[in-house]
Amino acid sequence: MSDELVRFSVAVPESLLERFDRLVAKRGAPNNRSEAVRDLIRFALERDECEDPDAQVMATLTIVYDHHTNDLKDRLDGIQHSNFENVVSTLHVHLDHHTCLETIILKGSMGVVKDISDQILGMKGVKTGGLTCTTIGNDPACIHQQGSGPVHSHDVCR
Ligand code: NI
Repeated sequence: MSDELVRFSVAVPESLLERFDRLVAKRGAPNNRSEAVRDLIRFALERDECEDPDAQVMATLTIVYDHHTNDLKDRLDGIQHSNFENVVSTLHVHLDHHTCLETIILKGSMGVVKDISDQILGMKGVKTGGLTCTTIGNDPACIHQQGSGPVHSHDVCR
C-alpha cells in the first residue's frame, strides 16, 4: 500500500452534497471536499479499530459527578489506584459547591479501557460522562514514541 493519491468518483444526491459543502465551508476549508472526505474515511476506520478489544488506545473519560454522593470520591480513587498502570493522568475541576468535572486519561487495550470506563460511568452519583479514544497501534511501546514517530493517528471514536 502506498500513500499515493487515488481519484475516485462517488454519486450522492445533490441536496446531500450541498449540505456537505456547507459543512466543509464551516470548518474553514471551503472547496476542499477531498480533505473532508479523507477525514470521514479515517474517522470510520478509527471507529472500527476501536471496536477491537485488543486494540491499543489512548482515551479520555470525562465525567461530571456530585462529590457529596456517599463515598463516590473514594470509590473513584479506588478504581484508579486499582488500575494505575492504565491511568495516565487525572484533571479535576470543581464546577460549583457540589459538582465536579473529572477528565481521566487512560491507556492500554480497548477492552481494559472500556471496562474501567464502564465501571466509572456506572457509579451512583456520576451524572454524565463519555469516553473518547484514539488507536495508537498494536505495539504498546508506541505510547512513548508520540513525540518522535508517526505511529499514532488522531481521529476519534466513541
Ligand atoms: Ni471537586
